[in-house]
Amino acid sequence: MNRTVANIIIDLIAVLLFLGMIATGYLLRFALPPGSDTTLVLWGCIRYQWGNLHLWISLGFLAVLVVHIALHWNWIVTVVGKRCRLLKPSLIRSGILTALVVMLSMTLFMWSAHDSVKELSPSVPINASSATVQAPIGPESIEFWQDVYPIFETNCLSCHGPQRQLGGFRVDRSDYLFGSGERKPWILPGQSAISPLIALVSAAKKDMPMADTHTLSEQDITRLKAWIDSGAKWPVKTGAEK
Ligand code: HEC
Repeated sequence: MNRTVANIIIDLIAVLLFLGMIATGYLLRFALPPGSDTTLVLWGCIRYQWGNLHLWISLGFLAVLVVHIALHWNWIVTVVGKRCRLLKPSLIRSGILTALVVMLSMTLFMWSAHDSVKELSPSVPINASSATVQAPIGPESIEFWQDVYPIFETNCLSCHGPQRQLGGFRVDRSDYLFGSGERKPWILPGQSAISPLIALVSAAKKDMPMADTHTLSEQDITRLKAWIDSGAKWPVKTGAEK
């Protein structure tokens, strides 16, 4: 391929990637603000996925820039060599040296970034509801009264508790959730995928009054599913069943 054509193609790709970086950066800054991961979705992707795309586009942009510089390497080395009054600048040696310096600084940057990450002190909750739901939890570490019941307590108890039992349902009694006698089960232990409760709280069930008050955050749903899949244990807690 002709050198000029190659340059034009490379620059075109660079421009496209650059526009992609700006577009995804805009989404991350304005359309899907920080903390929106559990609440907003755009064209099928949540903020986290757009962030990933942003990173990969910028890495692609970096790669194209490297190719661009490589195509002009002869010119760069000659001009810089002349400025610095080097007698015989070598293309290969200066190329290796530059690559080493760039890689070293990138490694240093990544290392110091990982090394400097600190946890925010828990005394600064971002908002009341996210204060109770922290890191994602694996199925092994799910504890009903600590990890699951607070979700019911915060989101359901006001309509399905000791005071009111809308729809004839209570979340504070296991027989209502697991079914017994006439009551149909809302939870099938070990099978979150077919447990009606999960359909209800993931907005999949729209054919009932107040369906929208039943939608939980992605994080709470993940937690509920993990609890169900790990057997949906509901240990006796003295004084907890109101
Ligand atoms: C603002 C009040 C309100 C909140 C909050 C609420 N619900 Fe409901 N829920 C209702 C009403 C009203 C019905 C009755 C719908 C109907 O008549 O079909 C209902 C029905 C139900 C039913 C169906 C009962 C049946 O036999 O059909 C279940 C299960 C249920 N809710 C679970 C929950 C869970 C779990 C939460 C928390 C994530 C929750 N609800 C939060 C008002 C609420």
